Amino acid sequence: MGRRTNLTLAALLLAALASGFWSFSIGTDWLIDPSIIHGVIALAILVLSPWKSVVVKRGLARSRPGQVWSLLFLVVVLVTIISGLAHTADWARALAGMTMMQIHVGAAVVALVLGIGHYFRHPQRLRAPDLDRRGFLRLAATGGLASVLWWGWERLAGASRRFTGSHEVGSFDPSGFPVTSWINDVPPAMAADTWRVEVGEMSFTLEDLAAMSEDDIEATIDCTGGWHSTQIWRGVRLDRLVESGAWRSVEVVSATGYARRYPARDLDRLWLAVAVGDEPLSIGHGFPARIVAPERRGFWWVKWVVAIHPAMTPWWVQSPFPLT
Ligand code: HEM
Ligand code: HEM
Repeated sequence: MGRRTNLTLAALLLAALASGFWSFSIGTDWLIDPSIIHGVIALAILVLSPWKSVVVKRGLARSRPGQVWSLLFLVVVLVTIISGLAHTADWARALAGMTMMQIHVGAAVVALVLGIGHYFRHPQRLRAPDLDRRGFLRLAATGGLASVLWWGWERLAGASRRFTGSHEVGSFDPSGFPVTSWINDVPPAMAADTWRVEVGEMSFTLEDLAAMSEDDIEATIDCTGGWHSTQIWRGVRLDRLVESGAWRSVEVVSATGYARRYPARDLDRLWLAVAVGDEPLSIGHGFPARIVAPERRGFWWVKWVVAIHPAMTPWWVQSPFPLT
């Protein structure tokens, strides 16, 4: 019984990690959103806790070296689960200078490392009878109970959120939404009169872009930090900026060195914006120009753009999530 519980927990932890990152990569509303699947998987871990507590008690009774790592693992898994629930219920947006989502994902990654160690200290094998009818029924019961728990928690405590799980902040107020940057990005101050953006062989000034900006775009930036904000942006659609050609992708580069690569077929859904809510962008929000990428998560909205390179490289030749 303990072995089966442990193996199911191993599968659930991996599935929680996978569905968490999957949810981070999705910017469009699906019939069943990855954030819901993630919630159900994560709560299934709680459903198994009475059985796991039997294993834990038995393990601790046989005092062995290295158990402190198992206890640390337990604490980190609890932090991951509690911070997930705290995000959903909107108990606090931030703690100790980190957003609840940063704490959540950080703890989840540490849990993965400790979990691998835990597995190697306590290896468990899958046996054929685990996959029989009873095994399947147990799994279905766990999933059913977790779904009911998820539904109840959502009704009871779930704050109003977007389908990604993000909370709304400062919509239609250009100075009211956060200026989150990716890990190493320090907002660079750039002079409006000397700044140029290189687009393939061409180069544009801020004035050029302002003159070409014919679109007002209502779009929602949805940050993996756990918030979203809808603003009216003004900018130039990239298919009007990039010389047409048989490109497979365009790479957009920030003054900080940060870059993302987009499929060329999406150029008519991406803008280089120079204004938000009728005001120039603030430095924190990407002055002089930033990408507006509706239906893509925040890490695609490159700020402080200095170059746009059309290329023959496929768009997926990059890390799925930014690393630096
Ligand atoms: C050990 C792995 C993980 C566990 C045990 C876990 C657990 C949880 C729990 C219990 C919740 C609350 C669910 C609910 O209220 O319905 C949650 C929410 C969430 N988690 Fe995780 N999580 C894990 C990893 C991750 C990772 C790696 C990511 C992202 C990369 C992530 C992203 C999210 C998001 C976006 C939510 C909010 C969903 C919503 O509010 O609807 N999680 N997680
Ligand atoms: C939610 C995830 C998990 C947590 C928080 C957790 C925590 C613990 C703790 C605190 C102990 C007691 C200390 C010890 O004996 O080291 C323990 C024991 C144990 N765990 Fe885990 N564990 C988890 C998942 C797993 C997984 C995925 C496996 C293996 C596939 C596993 C296998 C074992 C085994 C075999 C024991 C020892 C039982 C005994 O000696 O009778 N655990 N676990």
